[in-house]
Amino acid sequence: MILIFGRIVPIIDLDIRAVNSPEPYWDLLLLADPSRSMIEEYLADGKLFAAAWEETVVGVFVIVPLGENDWELKNIAVSEEWQGKGVGKALIEGAIEAVKSEGGTYLEVGTGNSSIDQIAFYQKAGFRMQRIAKNFFTLNYPDIIIENGIECRDMIVFGMDL
Ligand code: COA
Repeated sequence: MILIFGRIVPIIDLDIRAVNSPEPYWDLLLLADPSRSMIEEYLADGKLFAAAWEETVVGVFVIVPLGENDWELKNIAVSEEWQGKGVGKALIEGAIEAVKSEGGTYLEVGTGNSSIDQIAFYQKAGFRMQRIAKNFFTLNYPDIIIENGIECRDMIVFGMDL
């Protein structure tokens, strides 16, 4: 970090690379998605990436193909002690680069109606609201999820042309 005009500016030089096994990353993957079985399902179709700063793993993301040119960011997580330092933004940039290198031209990401922080985060990263998948969480997750005092029922889908 450096201080410019009294503002803390993160200098993040992350090593982001595709990894084969999810085993070392379960704590991070479960930060973004409470269902291990759902994660296992999309890991089977997708590509898992891990980001490290020096030797420390600081975040992960998963991209899954939806069609010929369309991809979905299925899981993005930054370890708690590294949140708020620009790592999430760097992971989104890493995901965009990874999708582009696969020939993808569109990236979407979904989050819960109760995930207020993530709704802010994705819009600041350049995503626009696309649609709402009503009852996605009610139908696909066995346990009731409550965040910010709100029941998580619907998925807000954001999209970005690359
Ligand atoms: N409210 C408003 N803005 C927020 C925010 C919040 N709660 N959290 C982050 N932002 C903004 C930052 O201010 C920053 O804005 P800027 O570009 O104008 O500077 C931008 O988002 C990027 O922030 P960054 O520090 O890179 O975010 P992060 O490293 O904390 O990563 C998450 C964000 C969501 C990936 C991280 O908090 C996380 O891993 N959370 C737990 C897992 C999770 O919920 N994953 C998403 C599932 S849908």
